[in-house]
Amino acid sequence: MEEKNIEQKTAEKYYRYMKNGSSVEDFMQKFHMTYQEVEGLMELCRIYGKDVITTEKRDTLVFEKPIYRNIKTLKPGIDYKGLVHTEFVLISDTHIGNEGQQLHLVNDVYKEAYNRGIPLVIHCGDVTDGYYPIRANDLASQCLQGFDSQLNYVKEMWPEVNGIETMMISGNHDATYAKNALASVVYWLSQCRDDITYLGPDSAVVDLNKVKIFLDHPDGGNSKALSYKVQQRIESWESEYKPKILAVGHFHKSYSFVYRNVYGLLVPCLCNKTPFQKRQGLSNAIGAYFIDMYSDKKGNIQYFEAEEKLFKQNQLWDEAGKDKRKVKQLVIR
Ligand SMILES: [Fe+2]
Ligand SMILES: [Fe+2]
Repeated sequence: MEEKNIEQKTAEKYYRYMKNGSSVEDFMQKFHMTYQEVEGLMELCRIYGKDVITTEKRDTLVFEKPIYRNIKTLKPGIDYKGLVHTEFVLISDTHIGNEGQQLHLVNDVYKEAYNRGIPLVIHCGDVTDGYYPIRANDLASQCLQGFDSQLNYVKEMWPEVNGIETMMISGNHDATYAKNALASVVYWLSQCRDDITYLGPDSAVVDLNKVKIFLDHPDGGNSKALSYKVQQRIESWESEYKPKILAVGHFHKSYSFVYRNVYGLLVPCLCNKTPFQKRQGLSNAIGAYFIDMYSDKKGNIQYFEAEEKLFKQNQLWDEAGKDKRKVKQLVIR
């Protein structure tokens, strides 16, 4: 029994280093292994449910984790050789400091990003729960109150994963600190953590391999038609200024569609229902989007897949404050 556990631990340890698309030769050098030993290790990984194979790409033998590619269907008739491949994860509304925070699910998203070899996570705002001094119900639902405690906590506890950078905009909850004291909590977070970049308040444009992505965290209530607000935003852009992707946080909803050639996404949250949502009877989608795209040299998207990963109710820690009490920082170095 004990031996089986050691085998499993060994498989899991090395599996993390077999990053999708990474060179097998580099792996052999790093761990002083022969190819036969790597083959044995991959077999061990497969026994423990971690599917990994090797494949040849541009004359180099690389690892491939086909288990994560099962829903991918590349469009036929496209020459992928000349295209740039980009992968990133979209998350939003973590509301750290609220009793309904679900940092352990944020950790799960980062673990999956790490296992897939994805180098970037983009946060669409409401990183923290903020501070609403005149809303007694909101204050009562917080396990951390005020700028110092929320900033300190998120700085210490946000996942720290080798090879993953996080970009963030701030949302209306983060902006409560700006309104009360001209203090930008996400800016200061980025000053404390080398792996986090602050892109600005409410919205920002990111250029990923020349693909223009507009990140948005509007304010205000929910629209009955999920796509309506996103459509409105896309309609407001002149053709030549349109981004290729629009990712919208704030609504705690999950939806993706294409409109005027823009890939529109409502990015789900990573927290439990807030008191406001409970009062209003609003639903709450918890999860992330894993984006896989191929673009040409001009930044035109030739292939786009937005894989929705939603968490189930039984994956939540529903008890108020449980996440803050139990969660540990995810560190992968
Ligand atoms: Fe939010
Ligand atoms: Fe918001």
